[in-house]
Amino acid sequence: MDITLQELRAHPKSIEIQLYLSDKLTEKRLQHVLSVQEMAIDLACVHEVDVWHANLAALLHDSAKWMDAQALYSAVRRYDIRLDPVEELNPSLLHPLIGVKLAIEKFAITQLEVLEAIRNHTTGSPSMGTLSQVLYVADFAEPTRTHEAVHVVRELAYTDLARAVHYVARAKIEHLLQKGVMIHPNTLHTYNSTLKRVEN
Ligand SMILES: [Fe+2]
Ligand SMILES: [Fe+2]
Repeated sequence: MDITLQELRAHPKSIEIQLYLSDKLTEKRLQHVLSVQEMAIDLACVHEVDVWHANLAALLHDSAKWMDAQALYSAVRRYDIRLDPVEELNPSLLHPLIGVKLAIEKFAITQLEVLEAIRNHTTGSPSMGTLSQVLYVADFAEPTRTHEAVHVVRELAYTDLARAVHYVARAKIEHLLQKGVMIHPNTLHTYNSTLKRVEN
């Protein structure tokens, strides 16, 4: 890669975001974000995605994760965000939506693919571009993650990104079924739309 992780982290915009995250997130969550940043940048190089965009999307993807359910719903009202019926009932699905608003309003991010990647990082989407796929996979499989499917996803992430996306969606669906909680339609659509990648 032409630009190093250290150089990306030293950029004034990265520092501005990192200061916000250090102030707001727990140490564990901050470590997760920095690990996602590292993996997303690696994957961006492999899959020829704009590395700066990958840096911004990774740094900002959990920027609203410090908010509790009450704060998230009040931010939804403040930003006049329209929720779908599953989002209405599941506050864990709201931090990507508020993260997009923070990215725009607090950090002046305008690149659509960055905003889309933040928006899609939890549920996925059947129409994800490469950056969205990179963030979706890096968020699931970064080195501090320990659940069962991470090893297969980690390997596939570098060789067959769509297949890695499929296994992330599948693992998320299995996890949600085990917990007996709602599954967002986009997670199912992501699973369905990538199924052909594992069938042949
Ligand atoms: Fe998240
Ligand atoms: Fe995350």
